[in-house]
Amino acid sequence: MCGIVGYIGTKKASTILINGLMRLEYRGYDSAGICTIENDNLKVMKDKGRVKNLYNLDGINSLTGTIGIAHTRWATHGKPSKENSHPHLDNSNNFAVVHNGIIENYNELRNFLIEKGYNFKSETDTEVIPNLIHYYYTKDTNNSNNKVLQAVSNACKDLKGSFAIEVISKYIPNNMIVCRKDSPLVIGKGDNENYISSDIPAILSFTNKFYLLNDNELVLLSTNNVTFYDSDLNVINKELQNIEWNATAAEKNGFDDFMLKEIYEQPNAIRETIGSRLPKNSLCDFDDLSFSKDFLSRFNKLYIVACGTAMHAGLVARNIFEKICCIPTEVDIASEFRYKNPLIDDKTLCIYISQSGETADTIAALKLAKQKGSTTLAISNVIGSSITREADYSIYTHAGPEIAVASTKAYTSQVVLLAILAIYFAEKLEKTDSETLIKLKNDILELPSKVDETLKCADYIKEYAKTIYTEKDIFFLGRGIDYTTALEASLKLKEISYIHSEAYAAGELKHGPIALIENGITVIGILTDENLVEKSVSNIQEVITRGAKTLIISNQHLTTNNFDKVISVPYTNPLLSPIIAIVPLQLLSYYISKEKGLDVDKPRNLAKSVTVE
Ligand code: M6R
Repeated sequence: MCGIVGYIGTKKASTILINGLMRLEYRGYDSAGICTIENDNLKVMKDKGRVKNLYNLDGINSLTGTIGIAHTRWATHGKPSKENSHPHLDNSNNFAVVHNGIIENYNELRNFLIEKGYNFKSETDTEVIPNLIHYYYTKDTNNSNNKVLQAVSNACKDLKGSFAIEVISKYIPNNMIVCRKDSPLVIGKGDNENYISSDIPAILSFTNKFYLLNDNELVLLSTNNVTFYDSDLNVINKELQNIEWNATAAEKNGFDDFMLKEIYEQPNAIRETIGSRLPKNSLCDFDDLSFSKDFLSRFNKLYIVACGTAMHAGLVARNIFEKICCIPTEVDIASEFRYKNPLIDDKTLCIYISQSGETADTIAALKLAKQKGSTTLAISNVIGSSITREADYSIYTHAGPEIAVASTKAYTSQVVLLAILAIYFAEKLEKTDSETLIKLKNDILELPSKVDETLKCADYIKEYAKTIYTEKDIFFLGRGIDYTTALEASLKLKEISYIHSEAYAAGELKHGPIALIENGITVIGILTDENLVEKSVSNIQEVITRGAKTLIISNQHLTTNNFDKVISVPYTNPLLSPIIAIVPLQLLSYYISKEKGLDVDKPRNLAKSVTVE
């Protein structure tokens, strides 16, 4: 996720642009840049690092242009560097573009443009856009005023994936063109000026009148005019909307807390994680990996290592790897692994999961595996993070910045990415029939809409939270894959509500912990595995008999009817069910924490990134 700002008016654009970028830094902050029109020429200033570094660039104060575009980057294609920073220019330096999103077919477009004589200075997917615009501009012999608009429209039709883009050009020095597909973009209307932004908060201090763009719409802006077009360049009308947010609340897009915002971002985060990795009618594709069957056949063991929530994602993945790749898979906590002389060698592939990529224990565990001759693969959400620099191979979740300390969208994205990785391995190793793998792929592709559907239980959960927020102890029970969800749900509850909680494999209860069950205690059962549901129901009956109040999260038809509350969630492939089942439980932790009046996003004693041992 990157942040985009634009300005066209009568004031000095650079100041407004940098100010807007500062407010969008939560969307990414590894590099930043602006381009303004100075005496009908394009002037780009950009660099690696935080937005505030722009103030130190030589000549930044001499920019007086009143039209400009700007970008703060969350790297996806290409490491954080000046060359990879936006804005990007075409080869003739006549078009400047900033882009948020991922161009899935950029390789194909890049090769096409190289054949046509274009060359590329960056590793980004974005750089194909200005060059494609130039290609269509020069191809178009019709010298109309709308020649640039036509070229942008043609270029956009070639792009697959998600994009919100701003374009300025020497050929139309009094205009700007913007468009979007599956990436946010809004236009703020002022007096004799217009603002563009990835989201409302960044420009809310300038105006509260907004046009909200839909997918595949293009906009031609001047100081006084905003004209909207559909993808075929037919003019369309759009209503101006008054937005009554206050600026601070708005940074969270209207959500009270980042955690809630991130819970709701999960359908989109999963979509971004899937990206172009699951092409229809062909094998799984990882841009950043090209493992052969021979290479993967060397490994007789997978070892997944991580901390906290990331480790829970590993537990879910173990089931998937063992089932479809038939490789024995161990999962360990990084702080344990690093000191236990693990049984690994050059036949072990060690997978390290870390949202931040900066967790000290996980990095140390990775270094240990390298010393022992194992191959290492990092999974992170942060491009260029330490863990990805240490690992032999890295892949990214692309879930966008996660700001709340309690991990939500990073977890579901990690599980999705690991599931895709397992399919990739299984296809290479030919361990599972293709029909089963195709079915699993389709199940993954359906996850965003199923998570969306699951989120509809929020109001019910909010009310339920009011009835249990004063509890001192809460138990989570599940068997098999549902036990992994119980562990993650219990961690979430502990860290943001400060309620003591335990997660148990349901069958293990009678071997000790059932002694803690007393009248009135809350027990939450997760029942999604059709082969184990009856067994789990029996275990839950044992706690009901001892006076427990129960909440059940299930996608099964339950014949027992003495549970206090049941939340039905959409059915999915049992290997993937933790991705759905965790959603109501994330919401439950959130609403309990709110009822208790706690700081949800910054719980006591915790930090987002644990860079100490
Ligand atoms: O950045 P990482 O994924 O390496 O972080 C690992 C854990 O610190 C993290 O998942 C932690 O458990 C979260 N606060 C859980 O919500």
